[in-house]
Amino acid sequence: MTDPVLAVHGLTKSFGALTACDGVSLDLRPGEIHALIGPNGAGKSTLIKQIAGEIAPDAGTIHFLGRDVTDLDAAARARMGLGRSFQISAVIPEFTVLQNVILAQLGAEGRVFRFLRAALSDRRALGRARDQLERVRLAHRLADRASEISHGERRRLELAMALALRPRAFLLDEPMAGMGAEGVVDMTALLDSLRFEAPILLIEHDMDAVFALADRISVLVYGALIATGGVQEIKRNRAVQRAYLGEEEVA
Ligand SMILES: Nc1ncnc2c1ncn2[C@@H]1O[C@H](COP(=O)(O)OP(=O)(O)OP(=O)(O)O)[C@@H](O)[C@H]1O
Ligand SMILES: [Mg+2]
Repeated sequence: MTDPVLAVHGLTKSFGALTACDGVSLDLRPGEIHALIGPNGAGKSTLIKQIAGEIAPDAGTIHFLGRDVTDLDAAARARMGLGRSFQISAVIPEFTVLQNVILAQLGAEGRVFRFLRAALSDRRALGRARDQLERVRLAHRLADRASEISHGERRRLELAMALALRPRAFLLDEPMAGMGAEGVVDMTALLDSLRFEAPILLIEHDMDAVFALADRISVLVYGALIATGGVQEIKRNRAVQRAYLGEEEVA
């Protein structure tokens, strides 16, 4: 078997008396979409934040591309190619769609804000940003302010910003949150094509999207993983049905 791109072992994090992440181990393999599901407050975002380096675990290790990154900060992990989108948007509303992508590129290169003007006239940077926007089908919106685009377009813009990192793995926290049915269908097709760019660890509540996309599903309840497996395996799992999927999935 090929080596996993990302491997988490025994990750544990408490907030006071609450253990939000309880000895979690999972991995992400090349080409796969690995969905992370579980009830509200199960610890899904807490797990992804530790993987991204935004919060430090109390115990456990994180290996990315074969390297132990547990002690690296979020910026260093991003530069190694850990692409992140947020449950809450990181887009700057006053900037245009194109400027937001260019900013994300600068961030990925460890450069700063004052280079923005130079980057905006740099043909290569512009070309790459346009490619990324085309990838998420937002090329027609590049001159519009981010505040003027729709919610679904904003989520696609965030993906273009994550693509700017030339990611080796994506960490996506509810990319379909707040989208209508049409947006979910669009985003599902987009994620399906992105897995070949880099594997995706996907937190998502929309079960139709999860079942359509996931190669494997891990189920988190009260901070602990209760199951990892293929779609059919997870649908049939009694503990998962009781904790999360509900009786309607039993058939
Ligand atoms: N910084 C924090 N300080 C204290 N408690 C926190 C903190 N962050 C998260 N928690 C708690 O940890 C638990 C897990 O939260 P988390 O946001 O990871 O859940 P989640 O699975 O992402 O939920 P949702 O599906 O609602 O996004 C919750 O009980 C939450 O209140
Ligand atoms: Mg969350």
